Amino acid sequence: MFDFRRMKRLPPYVFAEVNDLKMAARRAGEDIIDLGMGNPDLATPPHIVDKLVEAVAKPHNHRYSASMGITKLRMAISAWYDRRYGVNVDPDNEAIVTIGVKEGLSHLILVTIRPGDVVFTPNPTYPIHPYSAIISGGDVRGIPMGPDQDFFENLLTATKTSWPRPKVLIISFPHNPTTETVDIEFFQKIVDFAREHHILVIHDFAYADLTFDGYQAPSIMQAKGAKEVAVEFFSLSKSYSMAGWRVGFCVGNPEAVHALRRIKSYLDYGIFQPIQIAAIIALNGPYDCVQGIVNTYKERRDALISGLSRIGWDIESLCKRATVNAIKDDAEIVTNEHFMKALKEVRQFLTPDMVKKYHVIRDTDCPHHYEF
Ligand SMILES: Cc1ncc(COP(=O)(O)O)c(C=O)c1O
Repeated sequence: MFDFRRMKRLPPYVFAEVNDLKMAARRAGEDIIDLGMGNPDLATPPHIVDKLVEAVAKPHNHRYSASMGITKLRMAISAWYDRRYGVNVDPDNEAIVTIGVKEGLSHLILVTIRPGDVVFTPNPTYPIHPYSAIISGGDVRGIPMGPDQDFFENLLTATKTSWPRPKVLIISFPHNPTTETVDIEFFQKIVDFAREHHILVIHDFAYADLTFDGYQAPSIMQAKGAKEVAVEFFSLSKSYSMAGWRVGFCVGNPEAVHALRRIKSYLDYGIFQPIQIAAIIALNGPYDCVQGIVNTYKERRDALISGLSRIGWDIESLCKRATVNAIKDDAEIVTNEHFMKALKEVRQFLTPDMVKKYHVIRDTDCPHHYEF
């Protein structure tokens, strides 16, 4: 009866669909090993929870808050960038608090592109990267990413052959799901490329801290000239195990930050203030709680890799230094149907990937299941 324009461009969200399958299987009494959506299962560090509880008890925190984030949180974001990356961020013009990366990134795309504008995203990648553009009427072009791909070369080729020219490039390193990592020289090339071609770069830095084996992920804001063309999103979901709290932020190019601020001022009244206050405590607080969370993921990754190698899967060489994924490049389980089959027969629960070649294995959700 109805003709909902945007609905037509949106297939059911992949994680929602597989969650339904998982629930149905569990209700039917199946013992599911959940290697699906990387939903952080560790507790938020207690000093952050305590601050939330304290702030909730104060009635003045129950009002509408500021959609761009309260000043002290934006100041904490600025100090965090300075401490970690030696990058200067103006808390008033170059930083905005978001309801996680997902919300911030999709609204930034909504406010920056016109229908038909070309948006480059890696392929495969996290669903909101292409779908933010699809929701906004953009024309998404996937740039191949993976173990046998030179992403930067692919980007240059796509730029030469793309018409209309790309308006926005979305990237994310450490990358979900391929686990690709980069160095600061790579980001410098991206920034120089974007300046030359007048492209806005949106860097999703959700896995900033989830790095292993001595590798530290650089911020794109460390590249020279980054603020001319780039913004970066960070999330407290993974680093501080605050996924359900819905808090993150965006820093960088003042025009883009301003645009995001404008659209959000129409759409929301800010994150519940006690959450913002607790986020200040997280960012200003001790880093060892983050290290503890990362160490747990590392132990799980190591257990997963060694377990799988014992059953003959050589994934060690493909396992990069970051994120919550391990990756196998010759897997047969590649389509929704295959995953359904896996769900029924193998009784494991896996996320269907977006390209045929990769079979992604998540290790955040399976602390109890390493009996190979
Ligand atoms: C690459 C990437 N970006 C963003 C997110 C979600 O971040 P947030 O919880 O801040 O919306 C995820 C969650 O898995 C992710 O993998």
